[in-house]
Amino acid sequence: MNGARYAQITGWGMYVPEKVLTNEDLSHIVDTTDEWIVTMTGIRERRVVGDKESTATLAIRSARAALLVAGIAASEIDLIIVATITPEYLFPATASVVQDAIGATRAGAFDLAAGCSGFIYALTMANAYVRGGADHVLVIGAETLSRILDWTDRNTCVLFGDGAGAVVVSASAERSGVLASQLGSDGSGAELLYVPAGGSRVPTTHETISSGGHFARMNGREVFRFATTIMPQAVEAVVGDAGWQKADIDLVIPHQANRRIIESATKRLNLPPDKFFVNVDRYGNTSAASIPIALCEAIAAGRVKQGDKLVLVGFGAGLSWAAAALEWGAALPVKPQPWLRRLAVSIWFPLAAVRSFWRRTARHVYNWILGPVGKDDWRGRLRDRADRIGERSKPSSGPPGPKE
Ligand code: COA
Repeated sequence: MNGARYAQITGWGMYVPEKVLTNEDLSHIVDTTDEWIVTMTGIRERRVVGDKESTATLAIRSARAALLVAGIAASEIDLIIVATITPEYLFPATASVVQDAIGATRAGAFDLAAGCSGFIYALTMANAYVRGGADHVLVIGAETLSRILDWTDRNTCVLFGDGAGAVVVSASAERSGVLASQLGSDGSGAELLYVPAGGSRVPTTHETISSGGHFARMNGREVFRFATTIMPQAVEAVVGDAGWQKADIDLVIPHQANRRIIESATKRLNLPPDKFFVNVDRYGNTSAASIPIALCEAIAAGRVKQGDKLVLVGFGAGLSWAAAALEWGAALPVKPQPWLRRLAVSIWFPLAAVRSFWRRTARHVYNWILGPVGKDDWRGRLRDRADRIGERSKPSSGPPGPKE
């Protein structure tokens, strides 16, 4: 592609676990009521993962859905970014697990931790990478917050939920897609929303576990004040950067933390409430997953049209905040991909499982024959192995000799 490059969202997908946890269910776990939760947050229910699910399994399902909409085979992806604060492991990156599972054979992969602002941070990175020459970047927000909640702490456990959303960001010559973004951070508020233990500062010990240091802690009042102040500021700043007026905005897709925070931003921005998409009632706060999930549902509800001016805005742990202004470039409602293209995209998923199995098996066989560091004389090593197996199968005579 010659000339200017723009980064457009060409595919999108979401996945939430099947298990629904209602406010009524929560009232049997902690001292709370449906009325309190709905009045204070707008949340009615949230999804939580089952035993066999994890951040990566949610991310993979949302990624497959996004690739099918884009009609892009996983092998065409240049980079995968997973925004999450509940990664599969401390390391390696959840993005690497996703890369293997979907068969993104030529993609780089990394995780990005910027709390509930993570998806917009990742979208901003994808925009820069695409403008710099990449063709397709897969951006995922995925969380299993239920795994880091203290289910005896009513201040936090009623607020959060699990889920994942993904978008494919592709290069386009048309002036649309991500036109401006704003990223911000105020680390002086780090302890307002955090997991105190399990990192390098307070490593995991029996004491940190018995004191619940591995659970999320939050100062709700302070976070509320921060959110209601920063959200309108970030929207105004990014709208200015895009060269728009506030009245030009067709839809704001805010981070879904609390209906009252969204309503406060609506008033401060002096925008009609119907310009804000809200689905916090059904999923709670899914952190980095909340904006891509809301985007998918806004598209499904017919709230997004080609040429619309969208603002995405998030805030959260860090403290961090982010906003992006994008002009929607993809035609909607989306036309199903031709069947051959769908086949080319979906065939990649079972092939990825075979490829992963083959690579793991090959690694085991290689280690078995050559040892973990490899050896030049592999034939000699193979002979040694065969001899040892032969020795073992002979009947033993006398006491065993010293070990090699
Ligand atoms: N059920 C019932 N009562 C609860 C409760 C619950 N789940 N959680 C707290 N309460 C009680 C408190 O104990 C307190 O009772 P008291 O007055 O008898 O002491 C009362 O409700 C008020 O608690 P407080 O924590 O001061 O409420 P608040 O007005 O700050 O609202 C939040 C609490 C969590 C709804 C609000 O602070 C908030 O939304 N903060 C932002 C959180 C957020 O979005 N975090 C993620 C950002 S990404």
